[in-house]
Amino acid sequence: EKEPVTVLVTGAAGQIGYAIVPMIARGAMLGPEQPVILHMLDIEPAAESLNGVKMELIDAAFPLLRGVVATTDIQEACKGVNIAVMVGGFPRKEGMERKDVMSKNVSIYKAQASALEKNAAADVKVLVVANPANTNALILKEFAPSIPEKNITCLTRLDHNRALGQISEKLNVHVGDVKNVIIWGNHSSTQYPDVNHATVTVNGGDKPVRELVANDQWLNTEFITTVQQRGAAIIKARKLSSALSAASSACDHIRDWVLGTPKGSWVSMGVYSDGSYGIQPGLVYSFPVTCEKGQWSIVQGLKIDEFSRGKLDATAQELIEEKSLAHSCLN
Ligand code: NAI
Repeated sequence: EKEPVTVLVTGAAGQIGYAIVPMIARGAMLGPEQPVILHMLDIEPAAESLNGVKMELIDAAFPLLRGVVATTDIQEACKGVNIAVMVGGFPRKEGMERKDVMSKNVSIYKAQASALEKNAAADVKVLVVANPANTNALILKEFAPSIPEKNITCLTRLDHNRALGQISEKLNVHVGDVKNVIIWGNHSSTQYPDVNHATVTVNGGDKPVRELVANDQWLNTEFITTVQQRGAAIIKARKLSSALSAASSACDHIRDWVLGTPKGSWVSMGVYSDGSYGIQPGLVYSFPVTCEKGQWSIVQGLKIDEFSRGKLDATAQELIEEKSLAHSCLN
């Protein structure tokens, strides 16, 4: 039998935490044959609630679940961790400035970077979900210099999946037949959902989404804004942010990273830029990636038209500003 993999979920008493831990324990993240040990971290005010989640995990009797640690001690939470899903963070509250939220979150990610570096497995894979996700991941990378930069990523798979969902609804095709959309840039409303390389499998062959939709007006306007603003639409409808889709997409992100992307298809991940597509190195930016043997690589050579170029650069510009705001908060 396989050795268990230790998965850390921070902010585990929160909404996404509550949705993701049963998915992990059922094998949705690492496959149906991979035993797991869950480490759940939250802060003191949530300690009792966190313990309630632990009780439920025991009660659900998941055969793959080989251990549960519920703790408010970041060092203990990070011990021996192979996969770290960073969901914990400080939410934006009424009357708070953007800078105040940024300041709280980058200090959290700076502290947690050191704890991961000290306690986690040397080859830990990190996924940052908490907002501002790209910039939190960047700060984590900067303050955990011994963790390879390739091992620190942020979640834009939810946006990617939302784009697949919109195309599937529009064309009335199975979502599993749509592939190769791209989310470029920041996990924010400046992200660019790009369908220029996306296809749908029809009668065993791949057809371009642009050809099938045959409505550039919709693809260039409403499709983009719907994906960009989907998070806000969910909050409006549910009075709570998207937790089940975020949790499910986080499982997709890790599963594809660890087990590989299917041949001929790519996914979107926020990764440390190497300068591909003219995006300056030193930003965590969402790119199309393929994964093999636990390593992602940015898909190269895609043609970027003028419309797309403007959008890739605009979202990069926002990340440059977030980075400098984050650094000013830490000084
Ligand atoms: P939530 O407020 O329900 O849960 C957050 C949890 O983090 C709370 O239990 C809180 O006590 C905990 N926490 C706060 N500071 C912590 C710390 N220093 N260490 C450990 N835990 C800490 O929020 P929810 O809905 O679960 O969302 C979590 C984050 O994910 C938010 O930042 C949200 O904006 C972000 N998000 C990102 C998405 C993405 O696609 N990248 C999608 C949806 C949400």
